[in-house]
Amino acid sequence: MNHVIAPVSATVPAPLDLHGPIARDLEEVERILQREMRSRHPRVAEVLDHVRHYRGKRLRPVLVLLSARACGSVRPAHHVLAAVVEMIHTATLVHDDVLDNATVRRHVRTINAGWGTQASILLGDHLFTHAFHLASTLGDARVCRIIGEATNKVCAGELRQGLEKGNLELSEADYYEIIEGKTAELIACCCQLGALYAEASETTVAGMTRYGRHLGIAFQIADDLLDLTGEEQQTGKSLGTDLEQQKLTLPLIHWFASQPASTVTRVQQLLTSPSNHKHAAILPLLVESGSMAYARTRALEHAAQARAELTCLSPSPYRTILETMSEQVVQRNH
Ligand code: IPE
Ligand code: IPE
Ligand code: MG
Ligand code: MG
Repeated sequence: MNHVIAPVSATVPAPLDLHGPIARDLEEVERILQREMRSRHPRVAEVLDHVRHYRGKRLRPVLVLLSARACGSVRPAHHVLAAVVEMIHTATLVHDDVLDNATVRRHVRTINAGWGTQASILLGDHLFTHAFHLASTLGDARVCRIIGEATNKVCAGELRQGLEKGNLELSEADYYEIIEGKTAELIACCCQLGALYAEASETTVAGMTRYGRHLGIAFQIADDLLDLTGEEQQTGKSLGTDLEQQKLTLPLIHWFASQPASTVTRVQQLLTSPSNHKHAAILPLLVESGSMAYARTRALEHAAQARAELTCLSPSPYRTILETMSEQVVQRNH
């Protein structure tokens, strides 16, 4: 059902209250998620319970809802779409934790740590298919096509990243292609669907899609920085897996491209050795050479490009929140 929200003050919202104006809509999304992620079978219910209770930042539902508000109003379909994208995102995380051999996600143990690889693969599949089924209840082939296409690109991005593991020659262009697929595609889809279902013009839907894409790229570069310098207690997930799995991210790609061949070879040997000290040895090099700062600058550029796309919207408190979010995705510690 559609919710009437309390009037929003025209002033810039406090940083901690970015979700305030859509709080009731988020509650509705939460109800849908809780209702959908259940099973009659006790063993399946046990693992679904674990996933239902682990809560992330809800970035993707928030973007569906804010894009809708910024373009018009939130409709019942938006609540369903927001639940669908969160379920798809959760499915990618369940699979990603297998690939990264991660033990902690959203402050609790990963499905693979608790139930093993087989359960993780099948649970991830179950979440994907359930999300598509839920999307189909809207009876709109257009939505199924958009979500299907985006998810396809997300999976292809993860697959490509997996296949490039250990490729120490990965270029910056390859890196961007991977993160545009595995992360930015779904985030762009959220903004597109929010705008589309609020009956925004074609130009606005396209602008919001580009906003989401740049936001997603900035978000993943920031995530890759957090993988190197973040605190597990704050992020609530296993960190350091990119180096561990030999998945090259922007700071290291930049460092390899800017150092003399002999230094590069030494670090490549370290990276492929079974030693446990990769992180301690490599991080200072990335900091001192300016490669971490380089990656942060690239993230800020995409955040600024995202923000610039918002001129497709009329000024409103929702547009202001979307602008603030473009900064927050880079300046975050979780
Ligand atoms: C994690 O996404 C995966 C990436 C794309 C980096 P989030 O950081 O949005 O994860 P949750 O939903 O808050 O757990
Ligand atoms: C995975 O990227 C992004 C997905 C699409 C699942 P990461 O491997 O960097 O995500 P985290 O750091 O585990 O959340
Ligand atoms: Mg991971
Ligand atoms: Mg990461």
